[in-house]
Amino acid sequence: MTKGVGYGKVILFGEHFVVHGCPAIAAGIPNAVIVEIEKAAENEVLSDKKIIKELTYASIEAIQRSMGVKNKYKVFHSGDLPPYGGLGSSAGFCVALVRAIADQEDINLSDEEVNKHAYEGEKVFHGNPSGIDNTMATYGGTIFFKKGSTPRENVFDKIKPGTSLDLVIAFSGKTSPTAKMVASVKEMKDSDPEQFQQIYDEEMEIVNVARHALERGKLYTIGALMNSNQKLLDEVGVTDEMNEKINKIVLNAGALGAKLTGGGGGGCCIALAKDKKHAQKMISALKKEGFESFHTRVQ
Ligand code: MEV
Repeated sequence: MTKGVGYGKVILFGEHFVVHGCPAIAAGIPNAVIVEIEKAAENEVLSDKKIIKELTYASIEAIQRSMGVKNKYKVFHSGDLPPYGGLGSSAGFCVALVRAIADQEDINLSDEEVNKHAYEGEKVFHGNPSGIDNTMATYGGTIFFKKGSTPRENVFDKIKPGTSLDLVIAFSGKTSPTAKMVASVKEMKDSDPEQFQQIYDEEMEIVNVARHALERGKLYTIGALMNSNQKLLDEVGVTDEMNEKINKIVLNAGALGAKLTGGGGGGCCIALAKDKKHAQKMISALKKEGFESFHTRVQ
């Protein structure tokens, strides 16, 4: 039996716009998907999570094709990364699987190759992903990512945040397929390209200013930029009433900023706390309203 690990992430700035060429900033979280495999006559998945079986099987096959591997496996899927929309659980699965297969078959892979094979699996889940999720699951850390015209041309820089960020990750209780949310933004863009361009330009400004604020550890500026980013996500139609409700609860509890993270349409939101104690206060406020949440620190 061999094992692979793929870490989760939150997108701090730029989700959705990243698909259309805008840079985005994402940060790795310690929660991860674990995949263990052993050779079998046919592919089989056993999971302790709620997974979409057909997509998972198709993704395994896409990764096997990409890696040129003919063997089949029994795949055990576990780990502490919740399979909630927005935390990169499908990309975590793909990266973990690539690493487990490489180990099983004695294939030496660079991180770049792991990322490339994982992208083939991620496409099955998300249609036309930017590649930010599999890049995060492969490399971790905090990155400034820009999609290229082909996956090979994607570029990213590691960012060193000037201060650690205490974040609360809250689950709305609802998930919407990322592919569907990405398609809805494309529809909005196609129906009103001028308006989309205006919003996109504002997002570009936010992401670039956010990078500097992050590097200099300017917590209050980062929070304010998260709020501005959330407004633009609303303008392209990917936030919903649950996201808005969560953001209101955490802002009332003193969050420095709050936004949805990832695909939206429910899924997860992130809130920036002043410190860990403040994060616990927000978690209690969310719990009172029936929302599950947890604290994570980005450093
Ligand atoms: C999903 O985590 C992020 C999106 O921007 C889609 C993508 O970049 O592939 C919504």
